Amino acid sequence: MKTAALLCAAAFSFFTSIAGAQETYPSQPITIVVPFSAGGPTDTVTRLIAEPMGRELGQQIVISNVAGAGGTLASGQVAKAKPDGYTLLMHHIGMSTAPTLYRNLDFDPQVDFATLGLVTNVPMTLIARKDFEPSTLQELVTFVKANKDSVVYANAGIGAASHLCGMLFMNAIDTALTTVPYKGTGPAMTDILSGDVDLMCDQSTNTTGQIKGGEVKVYAVTTPERLGNLPDVPTTTEAGLPGFQVGVWHGLYAPKGTDPAIVAKVSKALQTALKDPKVIERFAELGTTPVAEDQATPEAHKAYLAEQIALWKPIIEKAGVFAD
Ligand code: MLT
Repeated sequence: MKTAALLCAAAFSFFTSIAGAQETYPSQPITIVVPFSAGGPTDTVTRLIAEPMGRELGQQIVISNVAGAGGTLASGQVAKAKPDGYTLLMHHIGMSTAPTLYRNLDFDPQVDFATLGLVTNVPMTLIARKDFEPSTLQELVTFVKANKDSVVYANAGIGAASHLCGMLFMNAIDTALTTVPYKGTGPAMTDILSGDVDLMCDQSTNTTGQIKGGEVKVYAVTTPERLGNLPDVPTTTEAGLPGFQVGVWHGLYAPKGTDPAIVAKVSKALQTALKDPKVIERFAELGTTPVAEDQATPEAHKAYLAEQIALWKPIIEKAGVFAD
């Protein structure tokens, strides 16, 4: 009898503590892990939504940049983090390409995470150092084919959006280029500006300022339509490479097993942040928009992740690009 009473007491205190945790969440600062260097496009998007999310949740949101292996290093760490709602991950299209690119991935994006909601779908821009010889996309294709052994392409590692975009570009022109991997396109942009590397496909959230300032050359945007913030930049279709289109969708994740009440609370804070006028305005200045409210839900994000993994698998397998 005494054992049963003790077990009931233990169970009561266990479930009370969980209930208490949900009700008091968040009772400490929340960390959002960004899987690329500070100053890059993923970092930019995260910092823009972190402030209104923190206001909604009543807690500070701390950004932790954990770069490496095209975003898979950080993803693997967050997958194994305590599912208490205090360690989240902001990641992008790389979450859907990693399962095909990496044969020894130490996590399953569809199993090891709780999806919290989609955030934004960022256009990409094909840019070069400002004194790079070609001035148009067609001139670039001709130049790159003729100088493929000397042109250097920068990306943020296998699995990064800049890697994927570069792969699509090189496939489209049937030419492989020497590639230099960085821990993010923030530091890669530094070397584009210094002229140490030639070419990069990067998100408009990281290139708009340099394009508008004439600090880099821009050849095209990878979207079906021109961007409102870069109206003079042609689309890849207009510039003569119609099959070369890609957008970088971003989503917020928690480790699997995170309490559904906490998932719902964070997802609601994300939805609120995406309706924040300052977020909408800044996203527009950078060439993107928040997703519609019904896309910033755990369910919509989970479904989209599955679709994207299925979409990119055959494309990557055909390209024959893999990481060990
Ligand atoms: C990438 O995928 O290229 C990354 O988003 C770059 C970055 O955020 O630094």
